[in-house]
Amino acid sequence: MRLISIGFLLVLIAFTFVKCQLELATSCDPEACRLPECRCSSTNIPGGLAARDTPQFVVVSFDDGINVLNIEEYRATIYNRRNKLNNCPAGVTFFINHEYTDYSLVNELYNQGFEIALHSITHRTDQAYWREASYEDLMKEFNDQKTQIAHFANIPIDRIYGIRSPFLQMAGNATFQMLAQSNLRYDLSWPTIAHTNPGLWPYTLHYASIQDCIIPPCPTASIPGPWVLPFITWTDLEGFPCNLVDTCIYSPTDEEGWFKFLLDNFERHYHNNRAPFILSMHASIFTVHISMQRAFTRFLDTINNLNDVFMVNANEVIDWVQNPVPINEYAQQSCRSSPPAVCRASSCGPLRITDDHPMEYYMRVCNRCPRHYPWLDNPLGD
Ligand SMILES: *[C@@H]1O[C@H](CO)[C@@H](O)[C@H](O)[C@H]1NC(C)=O
Ligand SMILES: [Zn+2]
Repeated sequence: MRLISIGFLLVLIAFTFVKCQLELATSCDPEACRLPECRCSSTNIPGGLAARDTPQFVVVSFDDGINVLNIEEYRATIYNRRNKLNNCPAGVTFFINHEYTDYSLVNELYNQGFEIALHSITHRTDQAYWREASYEDLMKEFNDQKTQIAHFANIPIDRIYGIRSPFLQMAGNATFQMLAQSNLRYDLSWPTIAHTNPGLWPYTLHYASIQDCIIPPCPTASIPGPWVLPFITWTDLEGFPCNLVDTCIYSPTDEEGWFKFLLDNFERHYHNNRAPFILSMHASIFTVHISMQRAFTRFLDTINNLNDVFMVNANEVIDWVQNPVPINEYAQQSCRSSPPAVCRASSCGPLRITDDHPMEYYMRVCNRCPRHYPWLDNPLGD
């Protein structure tokens, strides 16, 4: 009898657990959903602060592999910058995919104080694959990639916080279930067009999101834990929305034009509710649009002279949202610090994904060379 009831209890617990994981989110109750763990999706400034007391965060981010060519663009534009207001190193977030990535350079970026974030192992160009990806697929693409980057770039695994899905294609609930299970803190893939002015502040998924779903499916289940950092779209020169700046269709052609374009998009945030300004690109923007590099540097110098702007890692935006304090108090806080990570680089290759795979790869790592080219199901290349 006792055994039967224990069995019954276990079944009940298991059933409740599974059911809870997929419970449909209900509309957000701000009384129940409170910082630091919970925040309703909204354009309200966290902590009820006035815009003039709110730090304007600028999150510059770059997508895709890190290699000997694009590292030069990064060295030239973003290294050794400091925020004038608190003298802390300026942040930049890199959403890195594995293929052709040079991990000794990832280590260099980490040691510059930048944030290393995930952008999948395979970055398959098949959008349906990402749309239909299961929780298990996503664990292999992102959770395994966390282990992979920590291993090959020799950086602390607990300093990896965020993801961006390839092509901004999320898989609905599965993406956020994976984040929750992988101890990842935020996603920066979800575009909004409806909430740009005023912009949507980061929020959690305990309750239903008000965000427009531009690239379905979007999560509708209640998934406590991870944060949504809304990818607030830009407006191009003809008024069309775009996310990664190099994908804007109508873009400027000269330095003055680029400078104004960057400033115009920034000001939409700055002169309204100061929702974090997301400036994302591929490094190739600097070769496709030669005048962009100068304009970008000028833009960063210009906003750094304002009295309320901080260029930070995406992860630091969540820190602030969880503990929103006015600008003067924020400027007193200590700078982020990352424990230095050594790299004794090895050049590896030719490597194949499997012994009979046609492709040969070369890679640099801060570790011993793997036997195979690391890939899905074998992220460390054993
Ligand atoms: C997410 O979960 C909710 C609640 O179980 C469900 O209604 C919805 O269809 C799911 N959506 C996706 C895309 O998985
Ligand atoms: Zn990409």
